[in-house]
Amino acid sequence: MKGTEQRVAVITGASQGLGLEIARVYARHDIGLIVTARGADALDQAASELRELTTVEALAGDVGDSSHAERLIQRGLERFGRIDILVNNASTLGATPLPELADYPLDDLTQAFQVNTVAPPPPGATHAPRDETARSRGHYQRIVRCGC
Ligand SMILES: NC(=O)c1ccc[n+]([C@@H]2O[C@H](COP(=O)([O-])OP(=O)(O)OC[C@H]3O[C@@H](n4cnc5c(N)ncnc54)[C@H](OP(=O)(O)O)[C@@H]3O)[C@@H](O)[C@H]2O)c1
Repeated sequence: MKGTEQRVAVITGASQGLGLEIARVYARHDIGLIVTARGADALDQAASELRELTTVEALAGDVGDSSHAERLIQRGLERFGRIDILVNNASTLGATPLPELADYPLDDLTQAFQVNTVAPPPPGATHAPRDETARSRGHYQRIVRCGC
């Protein structure tokens, strides 16, 4: 584990595409990474690459599953002791073709909100980062939202 001065980011959907590109940029800036995606093999491959540049905690799972999202944050905090940045990159379109809101199946709508907006749970709901400024605000220092 690196010193507590190292900033730490959690990135959802980091096994490929935009999430992996963001992870690569952060890794080059020596930001510690907590990464997740559903496919374990692709995530392991991405994590191996990123570990050549920075410290990485990887946990495969679906961020639509709130227990996975909470485990992810917990594992990250155990590893790093802080989380400064949330990159909510994984997303789902939900029901397709997109129905009118009144006709949207509730389970699909709930899943879309969980993946796109809620997960991983915000600091304050489950933990407070060690960083004094962030803790006093009760928030991540930065939240990046990539999806729809
Ligand atoms: N590509 C574009 O042109 C574009 C344009 C505007 C916005 N965006 C947004 O940018 C984000 C990334 O796009 P992309 O093109 O890079 O996507 P992508 O190549 O399909 O990658 C999506 C990543 O998210 C993971 N993922 C998907 N659902 C997940 C879930 N429920 N839980 C955990 N991980 C999950 C995928 O891995 P697994 O499948 O293994 O879980 C993968 O690592 C999306 O939010 C997208 O809406 C993309």
